[in-house]
Amino acid sequence: MKVIQVNNYEELGKIAGEMILEQMEAKSDSVLGLATGETPVGIYRYLAEEYRNRNLSFSKVRTVNLDEYIGMDGRDEQSYRYFMNQHLFDRVDIRKEFTEVPNGKCENAEQECLRYEKRIEEFGGIDIQILGMGENGHIGFNEPGSEFICDTHVVSLTEETREVNARFFDSADNVPEQAITMGIRTILKARKIILAAFGVKKAEALAGVLKDRVTPWLPASVLQFHPDVTVIADAAALSKCS
Ligand code: F6R
Repeated sequence: MKVIQVNNYEELGKIAGEMILEQMEAKSDSVLGLATGETPVGIYRYLAEEYRNRNLSFSKVRTVNLDEYIGMDGRDEQSYRYFMNQHLFDRVDIRKEFTEVPNGKCENAEQECLRYEKRIEEFGGIDIQILGMGENGHIGFNEPGSEFICDTHVVSLTEETREVNARFFDSADNVPEQAITMGIRTILKARKIILAAFGVKKAEALAGVLKDRVTPWLPASVLQFHPDVTVIADAAALSKCS
């Protein structure tokens, strides 16, 4: 894995953002795999700024997001669809019908998982996937102990993840208990992966990813099996690596 150490959050956004723009330059109809959460906000900010500053177009780009809470409508402020609209899709000229986020309000979640995998295939697979990482090493909502061979599937969130994510809700009780997430097999099929980690809270998990053996108990460690991963992290996130 290639590791890039950044000095601050802004630089993380710029370096990851430039990698995405390079991908779009090489292929205007690139398929971008996207994540929500605090880590990638700066990446989307950078992309939206560069969209305004340079003569860029996202009109041919397709996107697929990693996950969505079950029960959430795209108009709910805590939904990942809402997050993506707010931070990126409404700020660039992307075509909404080319943006995919699992439908949290679907009638049948198992069917929605199959539809999602099919859609990724129809798009031609993911060219570049952005990943954040949970403090427990989760990627997407693939929690510790997840099987590596899973495609998009329904998961029950751990109490730990629900507590961490409670910051976006009125209380931990309001955090949905289930989600749809791309599986680890789906993620590993992406041609390129960026793992972004910022802050000391990610230090332990990142040290495991970079130094220890691959284990389902630290899902992000599976990225060691992928041939093209770039880790972009600050000194605090990398502080337990030496
Ligand atoms: C979000 C996602 C999660 C987050 C992870 C880190 O779509 O899939 O795996 O990337 O929980 O979240 P932040 O960036 O808020 O620390």
